[in-house]
Amino acid sequence: METTDIKGHLVLVTGAASGIGKEIATSFIKRGAIIAACDKNISALQAIKNEVSNKDFHIFEVDFVSEDSIINCVRKVESDLGPLKAVVNCVGILGKNGEKVEQVDIADFDLVYAINLRGALILTKAVIKGMADRGYGRILHMASISGKEGNPLLVAYSATKAGLIALVKSVGKEYATTGVTVNAMAPALIQSPMSDSFSEAQLASLKSRIPMNRLGKTSEVADMAAWIISPACSFTTGFAFDLTGGRATY
Ligand SMILES: NC(=O)c1ccc[n+]([C@@H]2O[C@H](COP(=O)([O-])OP(=O)(O)OC[C@H]3O[C@@H](n4cnc5c(N)ncnc54)[C@H](O)[C@@H]3O)[C@@H](O)[C@H]2O)c1
Repeated sequence: METTDIKGHLVLVTGAASGIGKEIATSFIKRGAIIAACDKNISALQAIKNEVSNKDFHIFEVDFVSEDSIINCVRKVESDLGPLKAVVNCVGILGKNGEKVEQVDIADFDLVYAINLRGALILTKAVIKGMADRGYGRILHMASISGKEGNPLLVAYSATKAGLIALVKSVGKEYATTGVTVNAMAPALIQSPMSDSFSEAQLASLKSRIPMNRLGKTSEVADMAAWIISPACSFTTGFAFDLTGGRATY
């Protein structure tokens, strides 16, 4: 039986300065992992590092709109800390929220695409060969229920999250025999700074579609993520794990 223990595993967490990524980075350190917490918001990362106060919590700046920044960040993490065992990519933006497709601003669409999908591809590309050469790795991208179902008035976000789900399906199959798994999680609304930015009407509408009739907690995302990136999750790749309080039962 493979272990769920991630003690001593070097895990790169992006989007670690806020919400889901912050919860994952700070709870994985309690599980004994070595954390490379990456984000563009370096001052927030510094504050988290001070709070965590653990020698295994390291911070790195990255800007997902830049290919060079992502590649350099991965290189710096691996040269400072060693080979990565796992990557959890939690960078994501909603973009302009609440507009119909006829009003969509193409520059905004391009930015959402660059961060949510292009950045995820660049990150995957930067880490996967080393993992495959070493015969072990876990890559987990934070997608969304909106990528499965398409949320109205969020076309850029939904389309890029759908692309992210397809990315893990494709890459998961490409690397299926290497010891590297590539998966996504597709949460419904999770209580976080991102969900705080929704209007009351949108929040009520999204919540009403969740059979458990509540928002998810960042700790629930982190607990599932900890299992997915552990050695125990060894026969699942290319999958979008559901975390929707019963909304998506597929
Ligand atoms: N909160 C939800 O309800 C929910 C639901 C489903 C999926 N998700 C997904 O989970 C992930 C995390 O969401 P969250 O709620 O924690 O969001 P959040 O806004 O709290 O955190 C996102 C983080 O990404 C960072 N970031 C943004 N642009 C960046 C860039 N260009 N380069 C580097 N870092 C950048 C931000 O600084 C922030 O720390 C996102 O991908 C989101 O789409 C969230």
